[in-house]
Amino acid sequence: NTLIALSQAMPKTELHLHIEGTFEPEQMFEIARRNQVTLKYHTIDDLKSAYQFTNLQDFLDLYYQGMSVLLHEIDFYDLTMAYLSKVHSENVVHVEIFFDPQGHLSRGVAFDVQIKGIYRALQDAKQQWGMTSKLIMSFLRHLTEESAFETLALATPYLDWLDGVGLDSSELGHPPEKFLRVFQACQALGLYVTAHAGEEGPPEYVWQAIHAIGVDRIDHGNRALEDDELVADIKHRGLTLTVCPLSNLKLCVVDDMKNHPIQKMLALGLNATVNSDDPAYFGGYMNDNYAALIRQTQINKAQLYLLAKNGILGSWMTDSEKATHL
Ligand code: ADE
Ligand code: ZN
Repeated sequence: NTLIALSQAMPKTELHLHIEGTFEPEQMFEIARRNQVTLKYHTIDDLKSAYQFTNLQDFLDLYYQGMSVLLHEIDFYDLTMAYLSKVHSENVVHVEIFFDPQGHLSRGVAFDVQIKGIYRALQDAKQQWGMTSKLIMSFLRHLTEESAFETLALATPYLDWLDGVGLDSSELGHPPEKFLRVFQACQALGLYVTAHAGEEGPPEYVWQAIHAIGVDRIDHGNRALEDDELVADIKHRGLTLTVCPLSNLKLCVVDDMKNHPIQKMLALGLNATVNSDDPAYFGGYMNDNYAALIRQTQINKAQLYLLAKNGILGSWMTDSEKATHL
């Protein structure tokens, strides 16, 4: 299939990727063994057979369990390096990745252990392959505003390594406004801001992310399509949506890949991009996400180029950095 070959060969960016969501079962068992941590699942196959989700929370329960074997700086380095080398082989040239510090702090793993491991891998990828990156610290929205502020305080010695902040975890019942003051503090520090919104949550949460928080990007955004005024607003602002096709399928945000709204988003003039979210859990990395769209929908060559171009324009690279990829 020539479109698949084309999608594989295109230089791509990844703007929505949780590094803890790249934890492949094989590597998880290896790190568990060396850290002498016991996993609830006894074999790789047992673990993989649990990867059937009916909603976001189902997945998150497993995701937090999986990351619990990460203890030392080298674990975070190895996890990040495995991901970067995988997507380097898929012609991903720039990544903007999330990490979830609170998912590790709650287990007694210090902030500096986490960020040092991740950041060193990002630097090595730059050295080895010229791959560029941004690092995004994400707040867990099921936790309190106070906990988010504590996390931000721990991050302040590392502001040079951080480009932005995000908001993830259980969306329903945890609207963006809950973290308004935290995000204001982050913006005052010069950080970019993004938030998961409209994955499971209503269009109202997307409105809040835009108007109350003032996000620079929207992660997912699927349910924004339920509100025509909101769609017009997103288009008018030129906000990028970091859409995740395989994630949407696995978490039942869409019932069938055939009905994925990404082409509709493009047709409406929205800056949709293709991303992999938690590839180890959702059945594939960047190229698999493109391949799923190509195989299951009528997506054409011009749309594939547009998605990749949107990924460059929607990144937090400078204009001159963007120009080198266009
Ligand atoms: N954490 C990791 N992946 C996530 C997703 N798709 N939505 C919300 N929180 C997440
Ligand atoms: Zn996500």
